[in-house]
Amino acid sequence: ARILILNGPNLNRLGRREPDIYGRVSLDELNERLRVRARSWGLEVECFQSNHEGELIDRIHAAEGAFDYIIINPGAFTHYSYAIRDALASVNVPFVEVHLSNVHARESFRSHSVTAPISDGQIVGFGPLGYELALYAAAVRLGALQR
Ligand code: DQA
Repeated sequence: ARILILNGPNLNRLGRREPDIYGRVSLDELNERLRVRARSWGLEVECFQSNHEGELIDRIHAAEGAFDYIIINPGAFTHYSYAIRDALASVNVPFVEVHLSNVHARESFRSHSVTAPISDGQIVGFGPLGYELALYAAAVRLGALQR
């Protein structure tokens, strides 16, 4: 099975960006961990990050028929991008939403997600581990892992 990992704006700054909140692991390191984990479960992953809403939307559209599952951290778009929500709703690919930080313990605007209601589920607050938890969920959902 094929999994698309999407990261939104400012996540290219991971490791250097507000490390007390987001940790010191870079996006490249995080993606490499996911690739290794995915391979061990017989899954293939493709990773894409963009600071541009439209590029994320184009990737979501292109995922239909090409990927079985999406793991997405839409960054701040989470809180207000109806366009990204509509893109996710427009394709027949289930997704999990991930946030590194515990968005419920921060500014109140972060606790609202416009994308979570149409997701399979949301994983927040576990740092980079959250992506691995999402990958595990995807693997189980896709029947790649027995449990
Ligand atoms: C984030 C949380 C968002 O509120 C923020 O805008 C981000 C990162 C997270 O992973 O914790 O860019 O999605």
